[in-house]
Amino acid sequence: MSSNENNEINLKILILGDSSVGKTSLLLKYADGYFPTIYVATIGVEYKIKQINLKGVNINLQIWDTAGQERFRGITKNFMKGADGIMYVYDITQKQTFDNLKSWIRQSEDSTEGFKKIIIGNKSDLETEREVSKDSLKKFCDDKGFTGVEVSAKLGTKVNEAFEYLANMIVGRKTKEELIKTYTESGRERIEDRKSVV
Ligand code: GTP
Repeated sequence: MSSNENNEINLKILILGDSSVGKTSLLLKYADGYFPTIYVATIGVEYKIKQINLKGVNINLQIWDTAGQERFRGITKNFMKGADGIMYVYDITQKQTFDNLKSWIRQSEDSTEGFKKIIIGNKSDLETEREVSKDSLKKFCDDKGFTGVEVSAKLGTKVNEAFEYLANMIVGRKTKEELIKTYTESGRERIEDRKSVV
């Protein structure tokens, strides 16, 4: 998290999960309001900025969409550093992507610390193809003290709520004054300095 001279706070959020679970779709739905109809595998990482206001503070959510494919794992790991929040995504119609959450969580916990987490079961519109029950998500979250939610990037169901829930968790109980004070002095580079992506 960091803040610039306009008292805007920058939060870094990462979207992690297996290939094809819908990470890019979630980002585009949330940041740009549309669902892409053609699948293009993410190469490396890409980010978008979504501005929101919490507690009267303007917040730039810098949301990084990572590649799920194994061959990009090294690049993805580099981008985990300094994350304020991580959204772990699986596909409710592909059990393996749910089983792999543990590995994504372990890798990110090895790479960075002090971040907030949310578990996302995407493609809730595909109820007839479901392989992961809502109970499995609840149990996984209860065991680890996480929050989990099923969403549909396609229909837009609970997408905004999921991102904003994570942002709220990061901001926590700090007042507007505390937020600005805490993050004005941060050593994190400003967003303008971070335009280049792999
Ligand atoms: P990588 O870039 O390979 O890591 O994939 P990704 O996780 O970014 O997946 P992406 O968003 O590209 O979506 C993969 C496929 O799932 C595409 O064909 C999407 O149209 C589809 N998809 C994504 N979200 C949903 C959803 O909510 N419902 C349905 N039915 N399909 C979805």
